[in-house]
Amino acid sequence: MERKITLRVDGKERTLTVDTRTTLLDALRERLGVTSAKKGCDHGQCGACTVMVDGLRVNSCLTLAVAREGAEVVTADGLAEGDELHPVQRSFISHDAFQCGYCTPGQIISAVAMMREAEEGWPSVVSEDLDADEFPLSREEIAERMSGNLCRCAAYVNIVEAIEEVAR
Ligand code: FES
Repeated sequence: MERKITLRVDGKERTLTVDTRTTLLDALRERLGVTSAKKGCDHGQCGACTVMVDGLRVNSCLTLAVAREGAEVVTADGLAEGDELHPVQRSFISHDAFQCGYCTPGQIISAVAMMREAEEGWPSVVSEDLDADEFPLSREEIAERMSGNLCRCAAYVNIVEAIEEVAR
């Protein structure tokens, strides 16, 4: 069965007809040509497909496009403002926070979303004694909150440093 849906992707309204079994990831990549969301495992294990949906990070391989009708979707393609890269993107470059780069768009989206979570006062995930007033995020906190995004090149030290610099 097919259904017509509308999504707002990286600031642009996009209308498409999809099979109701199509994942958001496949809709983005194969129907809308938004390829910064990567397909790694396609099973919710690697985080390469991470996008923000209505401000929250989501593994786009695990959600159906039709379930996101009307949603605001932000991918790594939509983070820059004109020629100006997002601070997290700039920090990844200056810290060499990637090697092959395949996981990088998902890492960056996850980092941006994570910092919003922290700003909104979500409690620490590493210490019950820490509350939102004690942010900026610690290294340990960043590593734990980013643990859903795997890097096969193991660039984790630089990834955490890149995020830490922006979160400070
Ligand atoms: Fe979605 Fe790996 S491709 S989590």
